[in-house]
Amino acid sequence: MTCALAPAPTVTGPLDVLGVPGQINLDYAASAPCAQVAADAVTELLPWYASVHRGAGALSQRCTLAYERARQSVGDFLGARPDDHVVFTRNTTDALNLLARALPTGTTVVTFGGEHHANLLPWPRGPVRLPVPDHPAGAVRALDAALGELRRGCDREPPVLVAVTGASNVTGERWPLAELARVARRHRARIAVDAAQLAPHAPVDIRTLDVDYLAVSGHKLYAPFGAGVLVGRADWLDAAPPYLAGGGATSHVGVATHDVRWVTGPARHEAGTPNLLGAVALAAVCDALADADRAALHHTEQQLLSRLRDGLAELPHAVELHAFGPDAPRVGIVSFVLAGRDSAEVAARLARQHRIGVRDGLFCAHPLARRLLTEASTRSGRRDLPATALRASIGLGSTREHVDRLLAALTTLD
Ligand SMILES: Cc1ncc(COP(=O)(O)O)c(C=O)c1O
Repeated sequence: MTCALAPAPTVTGPLDVLGVPGQINLDYAASAPCAQVAADAVTELLPWYASVHRGAGALSQRCTLAYERARQSVGDFLGARPDDHVVFTRNTTDALNLLARALPTGTTVVTFGGEHHANLLPWPRGPVRLPVPDHPAGAVRALDAALGELRRGCDREPPVLVAVTGASNVTGERWPLAELARVARRHRARIAVDAAQLAPHAPVDIRTLDVDYLAVSGHKLYAPFGAGVLVGRADWLDAAPPYLAGGGATSHVGVATHDVRWVTGPARHEAGTPNLLGAVALAAVCDALADADRAALHHTEQQLLSRLRDGLAELPHAVELHAFGPDAPRVGIVSFVLAGRDSAEVAARLARQHRIGVRDGLFCAHPLARRLLTEASTRSGRRDLPATALRASIGLGSTREHVDRLLAALTTLD
């Protein structure tokens, strides 16, 4: 069966998103659609497209200016302190790997088991991995206890980094960042936030949260072209070996192989020709979001999210996954299973028969997703839950019709 959809509304505002009429995209958590403002920024710059930091020509000069302005915009959007570095990367995975390489020797990293693989796997020596508690307050207590233990009887106080997500890509649940940051401070630890899923849905400000590092992905923030960013404290970044060795990261290269001087600042870790269009697209979205009424956007998204979750709760075979409980604050992401139905097959049928795009699998957060599937089975008393889940995620441009079409399609699966 196929279904006809009304054409997408004419794009009018900077934060309207592009899309293909007839296709319902409910997979924003993987990659969000492109915002009009990002498309416009790229279109405007394309005729000028040239090298960055490498040419004296007018085109190159303009591109260099655009790249550095983009850095300023993204930094401002994320509340960067004057002495923070704003380093462009490919995405959040890249940003966290960069931070992992910049840790001083002997740093202990503390994470929770609910992290996306991007925030579980890059850390050297294997991080201390705390179990995911069943309530946000439990996370704060667990971190306090773990850091207290790490610091106990330690005269030298080696560096400690807490690496935690802002919002889970599996459940959408928000983590208590400000409280976790306070605990980290009390124990003289630094804290890095994987804001890949939080930043598209809510303001994230490094200063207000009082955290040390933030990582985001442009492609989840309505900006295509594969740029991400790491924002944070300059000292570790300036002291670390360059993440990428090559042109642009050096001030001097002599004849002898060891005769290299690396620059400090963001350029130290950005060797090679940068992703100008990605940076400019991301900055355009950041500027537009900074000007937008984010409380109103949040309200609209939460209404849609409630509609989606309420609708799922009414389906007799649907079971939602959650770690913190049904009422915990969350962003527009819902993972669920249909008892007795293979999730990959359901996702394929939604795509083929209803032109609805959702995600299925374990969402690159295998430890958490597996645990939540087991708990969902216990909670629901169903022994026929599948081994993987479905995920629907929403954001700018999502409508009641999109949500209702998904719910209707799930009802009619035979
Ligand atoms: C919470 C979270 N962190 C990190 C990542 C990695 O993002 P990227 O693939 O853009 O590097 C994702 C991707 O889904 C995510 O959801």
